[in-house]
Amino acid sequence: MIAVRNLSKSFITDRGKIEVLKEVDLDIRAGERIAVVGASGAGKTTLMHLLGGLDRPTSGSVHFAEKNIFHYSAQELDAFRNRSVGFVFQFHPLLPEFTALENVMMPALIGRSSAKEAGKKASEVLTAVGLQHRLDHKPGQLSGGEQQRVAIARSLVMSPKLLLADEPTGNLDSTTSDGILALLDHLHAERDLTIVVVTHSEKVAGRMDHIVRMTDGYLES
Ligand SMILES: Nc1ncnc2c1ncn2[C@@H]1O[C@H](COP(=O)(O)OP(=O)(O)OP(=O)(O)O)[C@@H](O)[C@H]1O
Ligand SMILES: [Mg+2]
Repeated sequence: MIAVRNLSKSFITDRGKIEVLKEVDLDIRAGERIAVVGASGAGKTTLMHLLGGLDRPTSGSVHFAEKNIFHYSAQELDAFRNRSVGFVFQFHPLLPEFTALENVMMPALIGRSSAKEAGKKASEVLTAVGLQHRLDHKPGQLSGGEQQRVAIARSLVMSPKLLLADEPTGNLDSTTSDGILALLDHLHAERDLTIVVVTHSEKVAGRMDHIVRMTDGYLES
């Protein structure tokens, strides 16, 4: 489903050029679950952003269903991100002024669903993550694990084929993170969701089909 070839990314800073990803190759089959592990600063988040078309590489390609996503027009890329990919960001808080339901409705509204349809889909996925009793709470009124589940619900509301989750259990206690893991297992079984998860947890990594390691911009499978 996804073929990453020779993917490199460098950033130009006032202290010179930083090479963050170095000729990364990776193949991901539909329905596969991959854990990306590696030290802080190794390039994991940068890789996730490129896989989901949130950033452009310096060189190399990402083919998704046989199309190079970096050849898409800006509009096509927006549509790809909205319809095919769900993101759970490492540092991307929910919108604090909006309720759980409204946060989860957002991608559906952006995807031009009617408010009614978006509300229906959003409450379905919030129910699937066990938050049917928290629809009208704002993020500040939710626990960390509940906020993380809202973020996962938001990433799934468009029924993406690919879920990119950057530290979905970061900062959660082991019971709550077990709950998130069980949720990912369930979604994988039910929807044959393809999952790429960045994690520092050996337990989370151990539950995936494959583990790949990033070391200083290089990927070892
Ligand atoms: N926009 C940017 N400009 C310059 N350097 C950047 C930029 N984004 C990331 N970097 C650098 O790229 C390297 C990799 O960053 P990245 O966020 O991918 O690491 P990571 O593996 O996700 O780390 P962590 O586990 O701490 O989240 C870091 O050294 C970082 O400083
Ligand atoms: Mg990161």
